[in-house]
Amino acid sequence: MESPNYDYVFKLLIIGDSGVGKSCLLMRYVENEFSEFHLATIGIDFKVKMIELDDQKIKLQIWDSAGQERFKTITKTYFRGAMGIILAYDCTSRESFANVTNWAAQFEHCTNPHTVKVLISNKNDCENKEVSKEEGLKLARDMDIGFFETSAKTGENVEDVFEHLAKEIRDKEVYKHINESGINLNTSFASQKKKCC
Ligand code: GTP
Repeated sequence: MESPNYDYVFKLLIIGDSGVGKSCLLMRYVENEFSEFHLATIGIDFKVKMIELDDQKIKLQIWDSAGQERFKTITKTYFRGAMGIILAYDCTSRESFANVTNWAAQFEHCTNPHTVKVLISNKNDCENKEVSKEEGLKLARDMDIGFFETSAKTGENVEDVFEHLAKEIRDKEVYKHINESGINLNTSFASQKKKCC
């Protein structure tokens, strides 16, 4: 049998309110394109990108979830399989920033404890900001996760976010704790599994 031409497969998930730019971030990262239109994601979608980190080939499977409330049940089922989660808000929308805590509360209960998370403030190219960098940084610090200001429009920091997650997942060996179906391979987390949605 032919061996796969990569060393690891990492599953990532992008979550956040509808319209914060999740699909655009993914499109920028994978296809280096940007669209001004908001075509709301229906349920969930994914794209694949191959990257190299220190001569290791990594296949990133990136899930783009719908931000609309009506799809939340579907989205939640993908939390457990995620090795990395990008929690996005739109810096021109205070409401999307306020909702970060709701999204975080969901992954608190639904993700594997090893999952690496990062907070991003998207649309950093815009002038009409409602949320400052300091507020974003403070929230990320309180949640004990990384923080990036991004723009899917200009591409600012987009590659850095994905590279940061891939490095953390590899270096912390997160992939050893989460298998294909998202079930924790470490039996000591059996009680954690029951709490999951
Ligand atoms: P749902 O699929 O409904 O959850 O939305 P989403 O978060 O995937 O939003 P989407 O990527 O479709 O972007 C929503 C709108 O914001 C679109 O009109 C995009 O053009 C715009 N947008 C996304 N990212 C940026 C950005 O970095 N800068 C600017 N100026 N606009 C952006």
